[in-house]
This record gives sequence, structure tokens and C-alpha cells, in this order.
Amino acid sequence: MMTRIAMTCTVTFLLLLAGSVYAAGNVERGADLSSDCISCHGMEGKGNFETPAIAGLDEEYILDRLRNFCKGGKTIDGMMNTYTEDRTDQELQDLAAFWASKEKG
Ligand code: HEC
Repeated sequence: MMTRIAMTCTVTFLLLLAGSVYAAGNVERGADLSSDCISCHGMEGKGNFETPAIAGLDEEYILDRLRNFCKGGKTIDGMMNTYTEDRTDQELQDLAAFWASKEKG
């Protein structure tokens, strides 16, 4: 349990500041992790009336948003914090790589 907590984004963020973690998302692993996202953002990540489209956005932008949600950054209703807070930074990178690789909605 402690290891899991130690691995989540807050700690990784500090490592990032120290410059020891590289952004290298893996599209296939990101696809495996994305079953959680499609219930709101849609199968193709094109969003709907209350959820923004995420498919085809810039990878850096998505990663930046996910890291921010993970840290508890301001969101409309806290939903995205719930879906990112327990993930490792590597998982956030994989998710960003996957959604950025999808065709824009
Ligand atoms: C319960 C519904 C829900 C789920 C599940 C969900 N999201 Fe979101 N997402 C939202 C909403 C609502 C927003 C609007 C922003 C906010 O809350 O501030 C959002 C915003 C985003 C944004 C920012 C888009 C922008 O234009 O800035 C990204 C990126 C994102 N989600 C990615 C994901 C990923 C990746 C997953 C799966 C790990 C996921 N979301 C799962 C509801 C959801």
C-alpha cells in the first residue's frame, strides 16, 4: 500500500521538478487504461454536451491537464481528480499518448 501511495503523482511531480523523470507515454498501455475514460468522454473521446472532447488533443496539453487534475487542480466538479489521483505519472503519460494519437472529433 505504501509503495502504491509513494508512486502516485504528487511524489512523481517532485521527481519531475528534479528532472529525473522523462515524458514517454506508451499508446498501447494508454489504450488499456482508457476503459475508465470512455464512459464520460465517449468511445472515441469526442465528448458530449457536458464532457469535453479529448481525442486528438496535443499530448503535452493532455498530460499537463491530467497532472493538474491528479494534484487536485481546479476542476468544474472534481470528477477528473477522482479518475487521476490514484494513477502513477507513467500511467498519465500513457493516457496522454493514447488520446493524442486518436483522430480528432
Ligand atoms: C465521470 C466522468 C469522467 C470520466 C470517467 C473521465 N473524465 Fe475527463 N473530464 C470530465 C469532465 C466533466 C471534464 C471537464 C473538466 C473539469 O471537470 O474541470 C473532463 C476533462 C478532461 C480533460 C481536459 C480537457 C480539456 O479540454 O482541457 C482531459 C484531458 C480528460 N478529461 C481526460 C480524461 C481521461 C484520460 C480519463 C480516463 C482516465 C477521463 N478523462 C475520465 C469527465 C470525466
